[in-house]
Amino acid sequence: MDTVNPLTTPLTTSSRRGFLRAAAMIGAAAAATRIFGEPELAHAERLKMPPYVEGAIYINANENPLGPSQAARRAAADAIALGGRYRMELAEQLEALFAAQNGLNPDYVMAYPGSSQPLHYSVLAFCSPQRPLVIANPGYEAGSMAAKACGAPVFQVPLAKDYSHDVRAMCEASPHAGALYICTPNNPTGTVTRRHQLEHALQHKPQGSILIIDEAYLHFCDEPSALDMVAAGKDVVVLRTFSKLYGMAGLRLGFAAARPDLLEKIFMQGGWTMSPVTAVAAGMASLQDAELVPRRRRELATLRAEVFDWLTRKGYPFVPSVSNCFMLDAQRPTAEVIHAMQQRGVVIGRAWPAWPTHVRITIGTAEEMRRFQTAYEQVMATKSLSKVEPLPQRPSDAPFKPPKYRVQG
Ligand SMILES: Cc1ncc(COP(=O)(O)O)c(C=O)c1O
Repeated sequence: MDTVNPLTTPLTTSSRRGFLRAAAMIGAAAAATRIFGEPELAHAERLKMPPYVEGAIYINANENPLGPSQAARRAAADAIALGGRYRMELAEQLEALFAAQNGLNPDYVMAYPGSSQPLHYSVLAFCSPQRPLVIANPGYEAGSMAAKACGAPVFQVPLAKDYSHDVRAMCEASPHAGALYICTPNNPTGTVTRRHQLEHALQHKPQGSILIIDEAYLHFCDEPSALDMVAAGKDVVVLRTFSKLYGMAGLRLGFAAARPDLLEKIFMQGGWTMSPVTAVAAGMASLQDAELVPRRRRELATLRAEVFDWLTRKGYPFVPSVSNCFMLDAQRPTAEVIHAMQQRGVVIGRAWPAWPTHVRITIGTAEEMRRFQTAYEQVMATKSLSKVEPLPQRPSDAPFKPPKYRVQG
């Protein structure tokens, strides 16, 4: 009888169960490393992400205050009854639906409990002490924490003048790069890197390297997806999450889309790939609702335009964004502004050392944005804010202690 060698057998949907079993049996090794996402990054920056306090508003972690859609909630509630079993085939049905909607073969899609895991494992899979990671600055730094864990050097390339990724400089940053990470729209700036730039990166990236294109926020704008590059079998990994527009950060669901040989390398880095059945059911319902993305995109765009109008009228500088977050130039040390806003019950952040006076704001509900405006105006009118410990130079410089998020009261 043939045995399945997970290191050489392509990962097909039908062989998934056998593959998982075989992988577990040979104990395919993975570095034991900490995976960082928005809450942990905030903690690592010593922002002391505050415990949830009744009455405060949280526009600090690019979550969606609307939560899952009504159909997703119903589907998740119905799925609780299935929670007693490892229903792996449900995730395969979800992958098949996503694949069909995006012109992909189902073998090119793998669901994960969020996209933090496949991001982390992509870096472990393609970077090493000899194969650096190239990222943008300011940009989403979770990948650099994975690089740190596997000893890969990190090259941080400043954003271009128009706040897109400077793909030319990224391609030239290191001839030995293992991966170039492009997040579009970018976290924290909410600015896009256009299709022709992605094509440039694909053409000119160092030999043997991979493009990791993070589309966590793509639903909020009109830019095309890079999934067709995946379908065409390019050296591209596209990451998607249900944590943003779909409002499922606490349910945990995401996708990695790539050629099966790349997916397999990512998969072999370790971790637990099965998402909760409730999340899978909610994900299914979300993907099946053709109106959900355009409706939420429209609603968010309206709120964002109102905030930008207000900031413009008040003369507060900011970077225009097409996403659910933007960078606000407070023209003061960020730690002090974040602290002063928190004292007024408005939790904002994070901050990026490359832009020492900017804070990131997440677009919340209309009511939350009104409260943000009131608090921000007060803070800006205060001549001297209380002095607080400055943020460290880089999040990775901060000692990490496991966070405890307790509800107060
Ligand atoms: C750019 C980007 N990628 C990935 C993630 C990971 O999200 P999750 O693990 O919740 O899917 C985030 C979270 O904020 C993000 O901003």
